[in-house]
Amino acid sequence: MTLVRVVSVAMLAGRGWWFVQEKVLLGLPMLGAAAAAAVLLAGPRLLAARRGRGDGRSAGAVVSVLTAGYAALAGLVVTFLVGYPLTPSTALITISLVCAGALLTARAVTAPARNTADADLVQAPKARRAISRRRLIAWTGGAFVVTATGAGTGLSFLPAAESVTLGGGRGRSSRAALSVAHLRGASSPAPGGTVRRHVLTAKKATVRLPSGREIDAWTYNGEVPGPAITANQGDLIEVRLRNADISDGVTLHWHGYDVPCGEDGAPGVTQMTVRPGENFVYRFRADQVGTYWYHTHHASHLGVHKGLYGTLVVRPRDARRADEHAAAEHLDLTLPVHTFNGTVTIAGRDGQTARPTPPGTPTRLRLINTDSDPHRIVLAGTPFRVAAVDGRDLNQPGEVSNVGLHLPAGGRYDLVFLMPDTPVALVVDDDRNGGLRLRPHGDVPDDAHIEDTSDLPELDLLRYGVPAAVPFDIRDADRHFTMVLDRGVALVDGQPTYAHTVNGRGHPSIPDQLVVDGDLVRFTVVNRSLETHPWHLHGHPVLVLSRDGTRSTGSPLWVDTFDVRPGETWEVAFRATNPGIWMNHCHNLPHAHQGMMLRLHYDGVTTPFAGAHGGSAGHGH
Ligand code: C2O
Ligand code: CU
Repeated sequence: MTLVRVVSVAMLAGRGWWFVQEKVLLGLPMLGAAAAAAVLLAGPRLLAARRGRGDGRSAGAVVSVLTAGYAALAGLVVTFLVGYPLTPSTALITISLVCAGALLTARAVTAPARNTADADLVQAPKARRAISRRRLIAWTGGAFVVTATGAGTGLSFLPAAESVTLGGGRGRSSRAALSVAHLRGASSPAPGGTVRRHVLTAKKATVRLPSGREIDAWTYNGEVPGPAITANQGDLIEVRLRNADISDGVTLHWHGYDVPCGEDGAPGVTQMTVRPGENFVYRFRADQVGTYWYHTHHASHLGVHKGLYGTLVVRPRDARRADEHAAAEHLDLTLPVHTFNGTVTIAGRDGQTARPTPPGTPTRLRLINTDSDPHRIVLAGTPFRVAAVDGRDLNQPGEVSNVGLHLPAGGRYDLVFLMPDTPVALVVDDDRNGGLRLRPHGDVPDDAHIEDTSDLPELDLLRYGVPAAVPFDIRDADRHFTMVLDRGVALVDGQPTYAHTVNGRGHPSIPDQLVVDGDLVRFTVVNRSLETHPWHLHGHPVLVLSRDGTRSTGSPLWVDTFDVRPGETWEVAFRATNPGIWMNHCHNLPHAHQGMMLRLHYDGVTTPFAGAHGGSAGHGH
């Protein structure tokens, strides 16, 4: 078994030190030492027994063999409960627990058998002495184990010594503090733009799906998804959020939209949670074109799931393109995919939706994953291009067909094609009975057969499109932060939890990442766990550099959410040009709630909202 462990660790090591640190530094040495002791103590006796001399048993042999077993088990438990990084306290606790196991075993094995003690009355005093010596050893050992475990546990729950990490850049300066409360958006549109005003009232409502199914939803304006917000580039978006009866409180976060920090909707960081009866006005200029969405950021693992989300689409104002968009025969559909208790809805409709679409229609389908798990999207019946990812256009995306698209939680893909004169089907998660059908010949149902889509290969966006110049050279990075994602026992909002951790810690004990305005920042995101983590940074798109050491060779890929699947390592980079305090978290929202969330903190920026209305948790209770 020990050999098997060594080989498997050696293989894992090829994926990076993060995957094996605790195994190499603690698990294997501990197991190696215990196994060596077992071989030395028990080996000769067992060999002798095999040759017919003795029965191979002795207290020392039994204890040493069992201790090797405890050490093997302890190594697995450390990997499971703690993972990366290995701390001295973890090592202390583990070694002391294995020692405790050895001591208890020794006591059990050497306890005098009652019947022989009776027979040997003459030796009673000596036996008593022997027992008390054993007791002494046991008590001292036990005391050591208890102290070491207690000290280790205490250590591991101490708050982070440093509340920021610097990523190799310089530390906090004494620059004048700037409050996020002052980092607000423009108050007027760009010349020629208009003001798009909305009032969104968060309230509970029963929503009826086309199938007749009723959902007890949390909504904006009684609708799920909430009102579609659209604008042309340069318009001013002004949204008044009111909370009618969501007692937990709500906010609006503009997912993927690089608004000024004070408009970002992170409760306890950029604003206070909006309680029932309260309101908050968001105002920002729609400078960024593309497909985005909005959602509550308070207790979002509940709120978004229950329906507090909607779409945000900004179209270019450039005359020619705007005309194209306005063309009567153009089809442009915004399709948020959301699951309510197992029922997949597309733009708020369950089951299958059909739509007449004349052949030759330029079509754009804007897919948005508003769930916490990835979706598999297949567009059957036509070649198409993935024109944009997370709202940002790709460079020369080629035509593809018969591929599956892996859409991360929170992510968006814009698919474009010319409607053929045969039907087109949008299939989500290989469910051929649901999804969207575009029919070239009016409303006439066609029974066009859709092939099974489940074995179609997945399109790799790191090799799609054509490379182009990027605005920085990563060799000039000013800061480099590594985030190792795992499961483990950690404090989350002060409670010991089996958490989703970043570098072994849970929110809010994960140190802030400090940056200075203008820094070129590099992230390495490593997934040691068995679940996919859609990583999402607020306020900045990141450029994907590589996955598992393989460089991105397609179009520059700028995303705000990227799926780090089990065992993967992603390298991404961005220029820090949007001052503020930004949430940086897993967009599987239950994971974020269970600890997987930290903050990117610009030097000098402060928040007056910390601890207010829902705490610093952002996704808190
Ligand atoms: Cu779409 Cu912090 O989230
Ligand atoms: Cu996650």
